[in-house]
Amino acid sequence: MMTKTTAAITAVGKYVPEYILTNKELESYVETNDEWITSRTGIKERRILKGEGLGTSYMAIKAAEDLLQKSNANPEDIDMVIVATATPDLPVAATAAYVATSIGATNAFAYDLQAACSSFLYGMSTAASYIESGRYKRVLLIGADKMSSIIDYTDRATCIIFGDGAGAALFEPNNDGLGLQDEYLRSDGIGRDFLRIEAGGSMMPTTADTVKNKKHFVYQEGKTVFKYAVSNMADVSAKILTRNNLTEKDIQWLVAHQANKRIIEATANRVGVGSDKVMMNIHKYGNTTSATLPLLLADYENQLKKGDNLIFAAFGGGFTWGAIYLKWAYNA
Ligand code: UT7
Repeated sequence: MMTKTTAAITAVGKYVPEYILTNKELESYVETNDEWITSRTGIKERRILKGEGLGTSYMAIKAAEDLLQKSNANPEDIDMVIVATATPDLPVAATAAYVATSIGATNAFAYDLQAACSSFLYGMSTAASYIESGRYKRVLLIGADKMSSIIDYTDRATCIIFGDGAGAALFEPNNDGLGLQDEYLRSDGIGRDFLRIEAGGSMMPTTADTVKNKKHFVYQEGKTVFKYAVSNMADVSAKILTRNNLTEKDIQWLVAHQANKRIIEATANRVGVGSDKVMMNIHKYGNTTSATLPLLLADYENQLKKGDNLIFAAFGGGFTWGAIYLKWAYNA
């Protein structure tokens, strides 16, 4: 009997910068306070990448090296490297190509994937598809963002939320039914007015005025995004359970994008799982955009067991969102 080849995560790695930006420090930049930030978002601190000339690739490379070192994987065996990011090193020239070469993945081809906070979730679908089809055997998916490079630290609506970081996951074929089981991915262009960087793209190229008017920073209409995020992330998570005949008892972990603790809790409520099954690190890192999901995997790796059922969920700019059901493939 032919068994279907699935795509399993076989190793993870992470990197966060050393510098810790606390709520207290933010109080000195904008009119805010620790109590407001903690109660509205769950965030206590975030990491910031300091240092001239260091971009997203710096963190992506370190996360990949952490994965390679922990797993003893040979970088020359990697077939492709995807860097999921909303903050590439350069507008043109894929960050992933530089990362792949830097880590010694000399036989790989590489490109970036951008879907705002859903970049890593969509990347999981891409990585899995290449493996399920039999086209490639080892796909390294890295989620990395230097959000501090696109945040206005005088805008209290955004500067309290975001942080920098990177996480990596290696996808390989599995013939025991482990790995990615099902996905439900969505997008809706209605969202682009509510969460965006207005200038620097083809619609509004950079000029002295766009810089002066701060149009190269993230703008977010928080309340609107919050409403869409709560209902959509919960909807897709519930849907993926239903169509796989899963109940909350079958789920070991909810791996949800870390944008706001209240959004994560709403999704957990809808799925019906208690807080003991909800991966959470937003208090330490804030919203690291493409890095939240792999950072969770790396932080919780020691608690994960072979066969555990994980529900991934994300929501972000675009809008883009979705849920993925994955069976964990190894004991750390
Ligand atoms: O990852 C991509 C997807 N992004 C998201 O999922 C983010 C979704 N949005 C959110 O998480 C929340 O909307 C925020 C955390 C951004 C804001 O929380 P909120 O509960 O929606 O606050 P709000 O914008 O409705 O503001 C409430 C009040 C306002 O004052 P008034 O008008 O009620 O007097 C704001 O001016 O809080 C004020 N406020 C602040 N106060 C202290 C807004 N930002 C701050 C701040 N510190 N940093």
